[in-house]
Amino acid sequence: MNHCISLSDYTANRITHVFDVAYDLRDRRSRGALSDVLKNQTLAMIFEKPSLRTRVSFEQGMIELGGHAIVLGQEVGIGKRESVADVTRVLAGMVQGIAARVFEHDRLIEMADHSSVPVINMLSDDAHPCQALADVMTMMDEFGRDLTGRTLVYVGDGNNVAHSLAIICGKLGINFTIAAPPGYELPQAYVDRIMADVPGMNFQLCSDPAEAVHQADAVYTDTWVSMGQETEKQKRLAAFTGFQVDEELMSKAPSHAIVLHCLPAYRGVEITDGVMDGASSRVFPQAHNRLHAQKGLLAVLMGGC
Ligand code: CP
Ligand code: NVA
Repeated sequence: MNHCISLSDYTANRITHVFDVAYDLRDRRSRGALSDVLKNQTLAMIFEKPSLRTRVSFEQGMIELGGHAIVLGQEVGIGKRESVADVTRVLAGMVQGIAARVFEHDRLIEMADHSSVPVINMLSDDAHPCQALADVMTMMDEFGRDLTGRTLVYVGDGNNVAHSLAIICGKLGINFTIAAPPGYELPQAYVDRIMADVPGMNFQLCSDPAEAVHQADAVYTDTWVSMGQETEKQKRLAAFTGFQVDEELMSKAPSHAIVLHCLPAYRGVEITDGVMDGASSRVFPQAHNRLHAQKGLLAVLMGGC
């Protein structure tokens, strides 16, 4: 079955194919020629956590591909009112795709195990693969489709976003450096899995952001307090002191380096207004690429493109 739970399940060729379809659809859209590859198809969307970009880009993406999206409310009570397996079996008999934003990554795996239609990860505590697709598409827009040998430097928390970025970078030959304070690096089990999957990957761990950004083509950051970690907020804000992406840090990066952030951004915390709104920032085109990258993914998974 065609799912998208983690990009670790995808080959470089498959990822490249998703981008081929995404670019084709984006090009057609710019000419006013929308595709109807998902005509009469419906995506059911389940959110255990808040969302702006993911919800709108999936819903709008389905509409632009000729289909529909249903956003299920909390009344579904997945795993409470009814088991994950039963909810999935019911949905799979009525709609052509299921997308879920969840806390526990294993919940997505359980859904995929019980689904006869594609299951898409719209963010879990472990991974955010759709975000990584849009992020790399934004780098492609800047540097060309072949990103081999380019360097993405992630400054901040070794979280779900960093994890999916590391995977996609490894698969596509992009060097990945993470600068994180002690205790907030990517979990070693993730790193071991990525390195086993892509043994030749250039993966660097660095404790000094200024040193890390030296060779960057893209500098990336995300919130220091992910959804579900609110009780750790004070501890985390203290731990990440010195890891803000600000004008001084960007002065250490090459002048061509772009700045990325998955958003929502906490301005003045992990990133300054000056950097977010500065000439190097690509954060809004990056957000808009959520729509385009996911349309490519939906067309491949549900439309057989
Ligand atoms: N970047 C991202 O996934 O944004 P939302 O949480 O608003 O969907
Ligand atoms: N790491 C963040 C990403 C939000 C899109 C979170 O999980 O809250």
